[in-house]
Amino acid sequence: MPKPKILYECSECHAESAKWSGKCLRCNAWGSLKEKEAEALLPGRKTSFEGSRKKMEQFPSSGKTRNERILSGIDELDRVLGGGLLPDSIVLLTGDPGIGKSTLALQWATSIANKHPDGKIVMVSGEESPAQISDRAFRLGSAPKNLYLLQEFLVEDIIATIETDPPLFLIVDSVQTVASAEIPSLPGSVTQVRVVAEKLMHLAKKAKIPTVLIGHVTKSGDMAGPQTLAHLVDTIIHLEGDRFHQFRLLRSTKNRFGSVFEIGVFEMTETGLREVKNPSEAFLSGRNENAVGSIIFPTIEGTRPFLVELQTLVSPTHFGYPKRTATGLDLTRLNLILAILEKHAGISLSTSDVFANIVGGFQIREPAADLPLALSLASSKLKKPLPPTLAAIGELGLSGELRAVSHLDKRMMEAEKLGFRDLIVPKYQAKKKHPNIRVIDADTIMSAMNVMFNEKSK
Ligand code: TYD
Ligand code: MG
Repeated sequence: MPKPKILYECSECHAESAKWSGKCLRCNAWGSLKEKEAEALLPGRKTSFEGSRKKMEQFPSSGKTRNERILSGIDELDRVLGGGLLPDSIVLLTGDPGIGKSTLALQWATSIANKHPDGKIVMVSGEESPAQISDRAFRLGSAPKNLYLLQEFLVEDIIATIETDPPLFLIVDSVQTVASAEIPSLPGSVTQVRVVAEKLMHLAKKAKIPTVLIGHVTKSGDMAGPQTLAHLVDTIIHLEGDRFHQFRLLRSTKNRFGSVFEIGVFEMTETGLREVKNPSEAFLSGRNENAVGSIIFPTIEGTRPFLVELQTLVSPTHFGYPKRTATGLDLTRLNLILAILEKHAGISLSTSDVFANIVGGFQIREPAADLPLALSLASSKLKKPLPPTLAAIGELGLSGELRAVSHLDKRMMEAEKLGFRDLIVPKYQAKKKHPNIRVIDADTIMSAMNVMFNEKSK
């Protein structure tokens, strides 16, 4: 038989607790916790605590009690959050180590502190040395007076400190380095992360403090204990990008209070993250217009169109087995497009190494990039550059047909705005007239290839 556990019971309100403390957490009575008879705690047996009656409220009608959101003033961030932070919401900010989470958090905290000079903003750091923190602060410029730092890793101490003087906004960097004294496992373990996050969530809800928890992702792209944290928090925002490129994208993967499709674009500079208001221009700067294999693809992220440059390089295979590398694109999709090109456009790359890349560290996840990818591969193979003013959009089906894509008009307008004059799109899809654009509609990969490569060589 398992050994009965020891529980403590409050003599005032009969609340039970696994840990002894000087004060009952439920009724706040001091010195009321007494050790409880163990027999009531055997497995399968319910505790003797009876629920107390609570008051019901009428369901809030729309518009009556709309909560004010706390705006950071960093537009790219506020948009991803669905229009700022809700007063008692809990946000998980995830990303690879070194991507810029602490930097973003500090800028966020600074921005809110500046906008609310009477409110207190607290950043808890459990992982960095004072030197690291001050180096970052130095780069980002002077910190406002109402921004405080708490260097602590024990969640009970953090909560006690925060509860005595609740701040307007709280950031905990990171949940993996904070630990609870109640759990024997090491900080960062799944149980610790879950317990820490749960405790901080109760604090956020009880004291109505909007809280941001920072979490590292593991190599495979998962948060430690992802399932347990995902249901706990209200919003998950993920900072991504290539550490060797300056662009960072912020997306929300869960949002109880807004859309999950919005995206924020930042650039990592010497003095912190800078908002990129016009991503298309930024992604296209430095383009070599007449390079073989280079093409522009107007992509959509959420409701926002922007242009990215897609490049491929095709070179003869020297060691038997052809190599395929995709950066910012799905490798399976690249292999599929190679098969379609071979089967339906007569372009065989079976004896060539193929490298495909989205410039700037951007990730493309939509099949609308199929056509530009196919055209770029053909351009590399045939050693014929595509017109510098060309952009292409279209999903390819297995029989080489071009399929319709979403938000075509938005994509075309963005391309037009940035001076692209020739656009290849799936046939019959472009309904609106774009006066400055020559719309080439194609129904198959073959017809798109004919227009691009045969027309040019005439
Ligand atoms: P950091 O915010 O510490 O990343 P994380 O918390 O996600 O681990 O930032 C990591 C990198 O950003 C670091 O390599 C240095 C760089 N950096 C800049 O380039 N400019 C800056 O102004 C700051 C603060 C950091
Ligand atoms: Mg950090």
